[in-house]
Amino acid sequence: MSLKPRPVVEDVYWVGVNDDVRELFESLWPLPFGISYNAYVVIGREAVALIDTVDSRFTYEYIGKVREVVGDFDRIRYIVVNHLEPDHHGATPDILGIIPKARLVTSQMGSRVLSSIYRISSNRIIVIKDGDRIDLGGKTLRFIYTPWLHWPETMVTYLEEDKVLFSCDAFGSYGSLQDGIFDDELDMDFYLDEAKRYFSNIVIKYTRNVLEALEKLKNTEIRIIAPSHGPIYRSDPRKIVELYRRWSQPSPERDRVALIYGSMYGRGETIVEHIIEKLSQKNLKIIPHNVSTSHPSYILSDLVESYITVFVYPSYDAGIFPYMEDVMRIFQLKQIGRGRYAAIVNIYAWASTAKQTIELLTKAGFRIIEPIVETKAIPDEEELKKIETLINNIVDTSRRESTSSQ
Ligand SMILES: Cc1cc2nc3c(=O)[nH]c(=O)nc-3n(C[C@H](O)[C@H](O)[C@H](O)COP(=O)(O)O)c2cc1C
Ligand SMILES: [Fe+2]
Ligand SMILES: [Fe+2]
Repeated sequence: MSLKPRPVVEDVYWVGVNDDVRELFESLWPLPFGISYNAYVVIGREAVALIDTVDSRFTYEYIGKVREVVGDFDRIRYIVVNHLEPDHHGATPDILGIIPKARLVTSQMGSRVLSSIYRISSNRIIVIKDGDRIDLGGKTLRFIYTPWLHWPETMVTYLEEDKVLFSCDAFGSYGSLQDGIFDDELDMDFYLDEAKRYFSNIVIKYTRNVLEALEKLKNTEIRIIAPSHGPIYRSDPRKIVELYRRWSQPSPERDRVALIYGSMYGRGETIVEHIIEKLSQKNLKIIPHNVSTSHPSYILSDLVESYITVFVYPSYDAGIFPYMEDVMRIFQLKQIGRGRYAAIVNIYAWASTAKQTIELLTKAGFRIIEPIVETKAIPDEEELKKIETLINNIVDTSRRESTSSQ
């Protein structure tokens, strides 16, 4: 569904598009409910600025919306590049052809990365420094460099008069915008869930940078957060900021344990059922994921609120069960183990592969809860005892105060 342009505040418009076609964001993350590429227009007395653009497949839908709110394209002098990823600027090279007087506004790092991805002549690029301003005439844009949210060049743009923060990917969410564009118009249970999944898929590696950015913005009064994906937060912008703070800091108070398992013939599942039963009796909430059927996108999302993750999997061709290894490698890439604990149960018939798992999970940042269980498909007495000890240690770890943070 295509939405009409909408005012965000006076002389500021949402001119984004819905992408209900793409199935996998970044060719990785499922989009069962689509995604929006939000873009904005800020109209000053002397000049107009576009805040980011859209994916190249939506150039003409976007340009039509800009025309509707701006009229004369010659008034458009700036295209602010908060983030260079092509979901926000794939359309930009063509748009520079359509809007001849516009120049890109980018961070110093942005100007370096830009030429790796786009062919744009240097006389159409303005490089700004952290804290620089552009006055459009009654609308002042301030650029705040917030690196690694989630690329090195990312910045956010603050509209001083109206206290609107254009945060680009930060605070973004999957899910296209069907019933409106503001948090007070939408089913926020759905979008906040999708914002968490987005955070865990795209941003989680950079939690330190998230906390640094929040620190940098703490004295900036923000009335509206206008991200580049998903809802605009106008009724309660603090909510998503607080969630970002929470998601960036794993905590033992969360009584949730993720249990990720793979099983070909059900021996492992028997052990999984036993672990779930025992941990549930201790009032821990278990979130199980079968790696053969759960997409890593959703597994990552459920790890955000979990302090402990249990891995149960069979050996396979002298290696880790393949889908389990895929998930672990994604965990390593995303460094999701930092501040979190892992427990390992490897099921084998003739040779354990726990060593490989310990290495991968340690590289992913996890601290490992002892003992590491290596068990034959049907556990013997000693292996059963080890499983019980591990369960007890999981309970203890969940109750212990966190002594070191990330
Ligand atoms: C294709 C295949 C490869 C396997 N490779 C190994 C292996 O390298 N080492 C090992 O100890 N067991 C190996 N096994 C045996 C499994 O670990 C064993 O069947 C175990 O019971 C699987 O757990 P599940 O019943 O939960 O699927 C393999 C099994 C299959 C089907
Ligand atoms: Fe991005
Ligand atoms: Fe994005």
